[in-house]
Amino acid sequence: MVKIRKNSFGFCGGAYGDEGKGRVVDKFVSDYARKGPVVVYRDNGGANAGHTVEFDTGERIALHQLPSGVFVKNTTVVLGKGMVLHPGDLIEEIKQTKKISGGKLRAKILIDEMAVLSLDTHRAYEAVLKEWQEGGKGATGRGIAPAYADVLLRHPLRMRDLAVFDEKKIKEHYRLYQSLIKGLGRELAEVLVPVLGSDEKVPVGKVRKFVESLSRQRRILLSCIKDVFFFLKEKWLDKKVAFVFEKAQAVGLDPRYGVYPDVTASDCTFGGIFSSTEGIINPEEIEIRAGVIKATYMSSVGTRKLPTVMEEGLANKIREDAHEYGATTKRPRGIVYLDLPALRFFASAGKINSLVLTHMDIVYPKTPIKVCVDYKVGSKSMPYRPDQEFLNKVTPKYQELPTWDKEQISKAQKPADLPKEAKSFLKFISQEMGLSILMITNGPKREQGFFH
Ligand code: IMP
Repeated sequence: MVKIRKNSFGFCGGAYGDEGKGRVVDKFVSDYARKGPVVVYRDNGGANAGHTVEFDTGERIALHQLPSGVFVKNTTVVLGKGMVLHPGDLIEEIKQTKKISGGKLRAKILIDEMAVLSLDTHRAYEAVLKEWQEGGKGATGRGIAPAYADVLLRHPLRMRDLAVFDEKKIKEHYRLYQSLIKGLGRELAEVLVPVLGSDEKVPVGKVRKFVESLSRQRRILLSCIKDVFFFLKEKWLDKKVAFVFEKAQAVGLDPRYGVYPDVTASDCTFGGIFSSTEGIINPEEIEIRAGVIKATYMSSVGTRKLPTVMEEGLANKIREDAHEYGATTKRPRGIVYLDLPALRFFASAGKINSLVLTHMDIVYPKTPIKVCVDYKVGSKSMPYRPDQEFLNKVTPKYQELPTWDKEQISKAQKPADLPKEAKSFLKFISQEMGLSILMITNGPKREQGFFH
């Protein structure tokens, strides 16, 4: 029997990403930090994520590598072993965060010395590889898969290598990628890669420039790079400390549970917390493991063909009204009807035990909300399978639910204020998914959201 650790909460994307997790985590951490210390832990992904947080001042920031609790006092954010980190982008993100926080960081940042480096070399390799293979075409270009591949190939560079500045190892790394890229017909130094804070891509440059910029970055990040094992162990046992786990991406992007080739390289389920914390934290002990999903539709970036194709006029309207463009890549997102068979599968694979429904305000007059409740192959009901060939064969069975008033829901501040149609919709989703609803959001502002 697993013993639940009180005061612990996790949030992961419950569909194909971009569900609006960042602001939910930010709100949650802000509420808990008023009561006592909070540790926010991130265990997967890197600069491929884009968690948008909007402030009361109207300012917006897309966080990529820093967890969303970074704007909150009384908080320590931990970038875990399971992450792949780009030091240059991270420094820029810290700079932007400081600026928005009035010049000084409010949270303390700890970087696990065992976190893996994802560098311009990886970005360059990914860019060149895209010219050779179909599979990687949709990648965000942030060098995520090559950095994780380094781990499996047993030659990763870790934060610790940056901290002690193992120049020999760094140069060997550069030369390896130089050879790989030469083998594909290009020169590493000349390959253009994206960097945070600039709209223009920049060339990787020669080995000297590469080493020098890492050396500069080391000086800036050094005080944050730590062995976090004992810190985590101690805080996990101290029930006065609240723990918030912010997963990146979503279960539908997990390499085992997503639809190829539109998958990332990290463990997008709550399961990944176990390996990232080296077994200190069993995800099943986390009291609330919420899957964040959009309430009235789903979005998807990439080439995967999802069965619940939405009528084009409505999809276009939603894309504009809900700013459905990638936070990292700016790509327009595909919009489809809510797909409960897929969401049930992701909840089960992801170890999700409750739901957060975002975008409750994306509704239109006289437009019922169409929800896929089952798949049919012939006359047979079928569950979701993460396999494009299988998904091509299924016919969605839909149920239509009454819409609600956009203005009324946008003003709601507690469950009782919700329009009656929204209340029955929430009940329906909860019953169909077999999960309780923890929280909803009803507009883009920080205060537009509450516990259910
Ligand atoms: P990678 O993570 O850059 O390797 O990209 C692999 C796939 O995951 C691509 O289809 C990306 O668009 C998708 N992806 C990665 N991160 C996110 C995210 O935070 N939201 C949505 N899609 C993502």
